[in-house]
Amino acid sequence: MTNIPKEKTLDSSVKLLLEGFPFLQRRFRKFNSDIFETRLLLQKVVCLHGPEGAALFYDNEYFKRNGAVPKRVQKTLTGENALHTMDDAAHRHRKEMFMSVMSQESIKRLLDLMAAQWQAYTLEWETMDRVVLFDEVREIMCRGACAWTGVPLKESEVSKRADDFVARVDAFGAVGPRHWRGRFARIRSEKWIARIIEQVRNGELQVQEGTPAHTVAWHRDLNGELLDQHMAAVELINLIRPIVAIARYITFSALALHQFPVYRQRILAGEENYVEYFVQEVRRYYPFAPFLGARARSDFEWQGYEFEEGQLVLLDVYGTLHDERLWERPTAFSPERFKYWKGSKFDFIPQGGGDYDSGHRCAGEWITIEVMKQAVAFLTEAIEYRVPNQDLHYSLRRMPTYPKSGFVISNVRRTG
Ligand code: HEM
Repeated sequence: MTNIPKEKTLDSSVKLLLEGFPFLQRRFRKFNSDIFETRLLLQKVVCLHGPEGAALFYDNEYFKRNGAVPKRVQKTLTGENALHTMDDAAHRHRKEMFMSVMSQESIKRLLDLMAAQWQAYTLEWETMDRVVLFDEVREIMCRGACAWTGVPLKESEVSKRADDFVARVDAFGAVGPRHWRGRFARIRSEKWIARIIEQVRNGELQVQEGTPAHTVAWHRDLNGELLDQHMAAVELINLIRPIVAIARYITFSALALHQFPVYRQRILAGEENYVEYFVQEVRRYYPFAPFLGARARSDFEWQGYEFEEGQLVLLDVYGTLHDERLWERPTAFSPERFKYWKGSKFDFIPQGGGDYDSGHRCAGEWITIEVMKQAVAFLTEAIEYRVPNQDLHYSLRRMPTYPKSGFVISNVRRTG
């Protein structure tokens, strides 16, 4: 029986906040181990790294999610008692509802709606001196996501609603004002969407069958009951807010096109699947989710290490995506690597790993990839622009992060 390597610390929460994304990676390297124990938020935590750790983390026999997502994250990012915190049959049943709106046809409808937004925004960008890409793309995403879900969005509220969705994501690794902005944004957005659910149910708002608003409003849990109005709002938002969050990956995609212009040429050359390799590498290279949490269902032993019932376990997402044993030259941006990637469920885990239906892997991963591909095709083929001098640095200490300037472009011209 081996004891898990332990970090000597009373509590490392402050260090986690100060160090940000590389916090876990540094310690795995220091211990030269894919498992170690530390203390965070005043409790003992076991940290796992790499594909074997991920395979264990996603084994429902050993781990559950109930009690693993901190309240401060539920009160900002996900909403309380959402899918992310559910287990077993109840989770599978709710997940089926989410996955039912992820058909190819449904994603194609989203892309068509997004394409119309991209076109409208570009027309506007041609008249502007400078365009802060992140700010504009979050509006494109918000309009597209609302239209796709069936949620009416008044012209006058686009910026405010998009801001709230961004603030909720922005709060996940924050303390102080950024955290509180996220809390207030959650309250506002839930109130808004709860009213939409009410209107769908009482017939004041007609939404087509198959749209997410219809699907969520009329979904029945395992006990045959409709979700209560607030819960339905939480879950409908769990289909809108993360689409707005794709604005971060799109901003990173623009940064990659700027930092590594050779790939713009490769994309323009029309090489088959190249845009897909490019967006996969953006999802690997640039930081988004730092780690994920679960709790041990019972005492058990794994590879000689003893886990205790109820123990909090973290999976190192950022470090696994930058591990030199899995990725050749992990600090280099190289879309080509995805030409040869064999597609394990546990090594490329920017949006979680394992299975979609039986596990917690991100329900919106296919949407994310397709929406990013569309955006990259748009940024390379449909428009030309200049990138003026600005602060493009993104801090790894900030969770989540993005380029400081928001990525400013100027002299935008449509090519067509
Ligand atoms: C779960 C990341 C986009 C819906 C997750 C998880 C991560 C993640 C890390 C947790 C996986 C786990 O707990 O094991 C991201 C990132 C996105 C993104 C980085 C891109 C910006 C989306 C989109 C949607 C979505 C576009 C829906 C339209 C969900 C849902 C869950 C989830 C419903 C909970 C799944 C479950 O607990 O079974 N996402 N996501 N996400 N995501 Fe995403």
